[in-house]
Amino acid sequence: MNTSDILAALPLDRNSPTPLFRQLYTQVRAAILRGVLTPGMQLPPTRALCVLLSVSRQTVLNAYDQLFAEGFLSGTVGKGTFISSHLPISARKSAPRGLMRPLSQRGADYAQAMKYVGHHKGKLRAFRVSMPGLDLFPFDIWSRLEGRRWRHPDHHLGYSDPAGYAPLRELLCVYLRAARGVNCTPDQVVITTGSQQGLYLLTQLLLAPGDKVWVESPGYQGASAPLFAAGAQVCTVPVDADGMDLAYGMAHYPDARMVLTTPSHQLPLGVTMTLQRRLELLRWAAANKAWIIEDDYDSEYRYTGPPLASLQGLDNADCTVYVGTLSKVMFPGLRLGYIVAPPALVDPLVRAKSVMDRHTAIIPQMVLADFMADGHFGRHIKRTREAYGERRLTLLNGIAATLADELVCGPSDCGLDLCVHLRRALDEEKLAQAVLAAGVEVRPLSYYASRVATPECAVGPGLVLGFSAIAPAEIAHGLAVLAKVLRAAR
Ligand SMILES: Cc1ncc(COP(=O)(O)O)c(C=O)c1O
Repeated sequence: MNTSDILAALPLDRNSPTPLFRQLYTQVRAAILRGVLTPGMQLPPTRALCVLLSVSRQTVLNAYDQLFAEGFLSGTVGKGTFISSHLPISARKSAPRGLMRPLSQRGADYAQAMKYVGHHKGKLRAFRVSMPGLDLFPFDIWSRLEGRRWRHPDHHLGYSDPAGYAPLRELLCVYLRAARGVNCTPDQVVITTGSQQGLYLLTQLLLAPGDKVWVESPGYQGASAPLFAAGAQVCTVPVDADGMDLAYGMAHYPDARMVLTTPSHQLPLGVTMTLQRRLELLRWAAANKAWIIEDDYDSEYRYTGPPLASLQGLDNADCTVYVGTLSKVMFPGLRLGYIVAPPALVDPLVRAKSVMDRHTAIIPQMVLADFMADGHFGRHIKRTREAYGERRLTLLNGIAATLADELVCGPSDCGLDLCVHLRRALDEEKLAQAVLAAGVEVRPLSYYASRVATPECAVGPGLVLGFSAIAPAEIAHGLAVLAKVLRAAR
């Protein structure tokens, strides 16, 4: 093909909002970079090209001007316009298929790490898991507080403290001491971009490749992902009615460097670690110089009494790092979390945080501080606890009335989700797909199994149903769909 044929074939879209000169410029540029138009080729004069393409001369002049300015074209008046001959581009024989070079080992570990962790897709519906009720959030108050911050911008909008907005750290400290029994000062609170970043930073700081880490299985796969990314050895520990089975961990991985646990509310089984086990774990970690990472994510939502105090509050050896999130008491898209670190770990943690992203976005931190200082935070938790309590009852009563012959409910005194075990040995994944095809989401229990789980971690078939994000009528509808699919599987 000669140059005119190539240019005549460029697909200019006259209905596009992008101006024609911009389209022409972009397409000629791409043709040069792809090696379709090669260095030294002569382009038609502007008058000829505008006739060829049925566009105005100005369109061609503007496109040529831009290509000249960026060095793609060269030439002088009277001698013609050429693709710059010095460009080091050669014609490409076929489209690239893969990476030019393989990923580094670290890159490969990263690329695999979150592969098994899903994200929420599409509109909220029954029974989306691990999701608070957006219908209950006071967005009007939030937008008023945020508007106030934008109307009075101050020096905080520069590069600010990587540890987080100081008033927010103070307010969180007061809250965590009172509501979660966390033993801390504001200096120990470091604001992160969700607890995911907190877990990531801690694994990067505290683990060397090959270090052993106990994780609960079934458990939260999002927390294991940073371990895989850090090249740690993920050691799965079964969970029973008293929480993580410490005796198993101690017998199989006595030299572990870290324990990752959800003692207040185990995800997904819903059990709580007993006081006896908490104290045993603390004693073992102190004696073995192991870190305990306490992932406390939704324990504000306890329906049968006041929330249980944190494990960190029982620690007098500074081996526990407390990781919290605003994703459940507020909403996940806010991407705010925090770490309460032992004093000696704060400095390295804050420096690592600043290597990663300087600091978490400041406006959401400031607005959250205002939200807390004005009392909205406490009111929102109280209100949502009541509403989720009702939603939980709708789910439990519905299961008791219509599905008791199919499902056995796990502990339901805390959190946003309910784990139900199947009485029959059905294929839970197929079941979840059939339910999804009918417009309702459920998570098979196997989703939470670690990909390196030992046989002792196996649990029977089950489903996890989120109840907090949706109104009671939706819950009833979701149950009807689930019942229909289960009956059809008879
Ligand atoms: C056990 C557990 N920890 C933490 C989180 C919150 O993570 P993030 O703060 O990154 O949203 C979740 C969310 O589902 C969770 O299930």
